[in-house]
Parts: sequence; C-alpha cells; structure tokens
Amino acid sequence: MKILVTGGAGFIGSNFLNLFVPRYPDCRFINFDKLTYAANLLNLKNIQVKQNYVFVRGDIADYAAVAAVFEKYEPDIVVHFAAESHVDRSILGPADFINTNILGTFNLLEACRKYWGDRPGKLFHHVSTDEVYGSLGETGYFTEETRYDPSSPYSASKASSDHLVRAYHRTYGLPVKVTNCSNNYGPYQFPEKLIPLMILHALEGKSLPVYGTGENVRDWLFVEDHCEAIWTVIEKGNVGETYNIGGNNQWKNIDIVHKICDLLGEKLDKDPQEFKKLITFVKDRPGHDLRYAIDATKIRDQLGWEPRETFETGLNKTIDWYLHNKDWVESVKTGDYKKWLEMNYGT
Ligand code: NAD
Ligand code: DAU
Repeated sequence: MKILVTGGAGFIGSNFLNLFVPRYPDCRFINFDKLTYAANLLNLKNIQVKQNYVFVRGDIADYAAVAAVFEKYEPDIVVHFAAESHVDRSILGPADFINTNILGTFNLLEACRKYWGDRPGKLFHHVSTDEVYGSLGETGYFTEETRYDPSSPYSASKASSDHLVRAYHRTYGLPVKVTNCSNNYGPYQFPEKLIPLMILHALEGKSLPVYGTGENVRDWLFVEDHCEAIWTVIEKGNVGETYNIGGNNQWKNIDIVHKICDLLGEKLDKDPQEFKKLITFVKDRPGHDLRYAIDATKIRDQLGWEPRETFETGLNKTIDWYLHNKDWVESVKTGDYKKWLEMNYGT
C-alpha cells in the first residue's frame, strides 16, 4: 500500500507520520510538502531514515509537480492535510489560502481522476475542519448534516475544498472520505496557534493576548487522537461519507489560558499569578466565531473511535513537550530552521 500524505511536515501531518510510519512497515509513505513557514522537517527526525518513508518537496498548487509524484510513486491512498491553516493569516492575506486550499485540492483530485481511473482499492481522504459550519450560539453541536456557513477566508477555502471533494465523488465516482475535526493541540504545533503561543509567551514573560473578552469556546482534541480517528475512517469508514471528529471538550479561551498558567506554575514551582498577570485583552478577531462543538456520535457508534487523552493528560503532555524540546522551539523562533532550509533546499 502506497500512501501519499500531503502537508506531512506540518503539525497534524507530522504527528500522523510519526505514528503510522513505524506502526505499518509494509505501507510506503510519501510526504509531499511545500515547506511553508508552518512546516518543519525536524518534526520528522525520528522517521526520516525509515525505509518506508520518503520526502518530496513540492507545491500542490502546481499541477505538474503533483502529476510527477503520481507518476513516480503511484499512490493508492492520498491523505490530504496540506493547507494554509491559520485564520488570522487568512484575514491579513487570503490569496495563499485560495491557492493552496482550493486550487491545490482541485489539482490533487484531478490527478486522482487521471491516474486512478476506475481502478479499485484507491482512496482520497480529505482532512477538513469544523470551521466550515460557522459559529454555534450558546447551545447545540455540529453534526455531519449541519449547513455550511464559513466565516473567515480560511474556513471558506476549506468549505470550498470539501465541496469539490464531494462533487468528484458524485460526478466522477472518485472514492473519497471527508473528516471535519475540531481544534487540535499537541507537540509540533506552530506557536501562532492559541495553546503553544500562550505556553511560549508565558515562559518568556511576554503578554498573553486574549481576543475580545475570551468568552469564545473551542472543542479541543489531542492531535494523536485526531490521527487515530483519520486512520479509523480510512480503514473502516464508508466511501463517499463524512465523519465529524471532536473531543467533547469545550473550553472558553480565557479558561484555557488560566489553566496553562496554573500548570506552568506547578511544573516550574512558581506562583501562577506571575503568568496570569501577563494576560492582556486585545482587539477581537474580525468575524470571530463564538463557539464550536462537535457531535462525534457517528464515528463513535459506527466505527468505534473514541479519544484516548483527556484534556488533563493531553495538555500536560503538550506543555511538557514544549518545555523539553527547546531546540525545536529555538529553531522556530530564531529562524535557524529557515537557514537550514535555505542550505538544503535553496529557498
Ligand atoms: P499546518 O499549518 O501546521 O501545516 C500545513 C502543512 O501543509 C505544512 O507542512 C505546509 O508546508 C504544508 N503546505 C501548505 N501549503 C502547501 C502547498 N501549497 N503544497 C504542499 N504543502 C503545503 O496545519 P495543521 O494544523 O497541521 O493542519 C493540517 C490540516 O488539518 C489542514 O488541512 C487543516 O485545515 C486541518 N485541520 C486542522 C486543525 C487544527 O486544529 N490545526 C483542525 C481541523 C482540521
Ligand atoms: O476548529 C478547527 C480549527 O482550529 C482549524 O481548522 C484551524 O486550522 C486551527 O488554526 C484552529 O482555528 P482557531 O482559529 O480556532 O485556532 P486559534 O488557535 O488560532 O485560536 C483559538 C481561539 O483562541 C480562537 O477563539 C481565537 C483565540 N485566540 C487565538 C490566538 C492565536 C486568542 O484569543 N489569542 C491568540 O493569540
């Protein structure tokens, strides 16, 4: 089985590869990644020498590069993570989001259509987000039937890619599966996202910027639980169907920031107030969705997936990881990683 993983040098893709490359030595994993600012090949240092793993640098928005990978490696399965993923960046500059998330997905679908034809045993697994559903009010959950209502250029571009994937199934019979997941956290997350940003800013004594009043709610899932859910859907899910993935773990942003401060206080034997006094309420994100919450009944009841980590265990693991992986943190902060990239890849 040959598995093409797009965006495998990013946060979730690298966790996916770190879990499954060693677990499935009979599968060959091809990691196709452009290496944007969010990628880091250091994430993959434990698997880079494995016989069943290969890295190819390339852009999914470049059809010729995508076609070349299909010709050379003849993948049976595509697990499509590659995306521009940060909402705030999409507000500042949407163009890359349209290019990668929409055009890039279209190119992959076209390559599947061309190189797979009607052959059996193929699968396009599309990794998507709960943000396509827009915002919930104080109550309720997103189900697989919830109407799409994206708020940001990021979520609109992901919604568009979801529609393309389903259209390729209905129109051309392409074997696809779609998963829509809630907020992930864990090792290797780029520190522009809430949890790693707060951990690292607190450690450096920098302000902890909470958007608006901090009342917005997200449903947090440990990244390895997301990866296991994707594998479960690949193995057991029905072709043409969508599965929502979530941790049933809703938190207000301000409560998470307090929790991180408390845990850092415990771990470093400091007064948590030292960290909490850094909290600063800043201008709200435009179009900021109030609340996300996933109803994961379908994947739980039909496929038997459940998260293994609680927020307590997952957040402890995550904070410990950021405390103990100073080289990774430094490489992201100082631009050493960028220099290394330039040396090895010329850009
Ligand atoms: P990330 O930003 O950490 O990583 C994205 C990866 O894609 C990077 O390695 C980057 O280099 C690569 N990439 C970007 N543009 C590319 C292009 N044009 N060609 C090839 N590679 C390219 O993102 P993430 O948080 O790991 O998210 C992965 C996927 O999961 C995304 O599709 C995202 O929408 C989805 N998702 C993320 C979350 C979350 O909480 N992070 C939740 C649900 C779904
Ligand atoms: O729900 C899934 C989505 O979760 C994924 O599709 C996205 O790729 C991923 O980035 C994430 O989107 P969010 O916008 O929810 O994540 P972020 O970490 O950027 O923000 C989480 C919440 O915290 C959100 O309500 C905004 C708030 N926030 C964020 C940052 C970075 C702050 O209050 N301060 C901050 O500095």
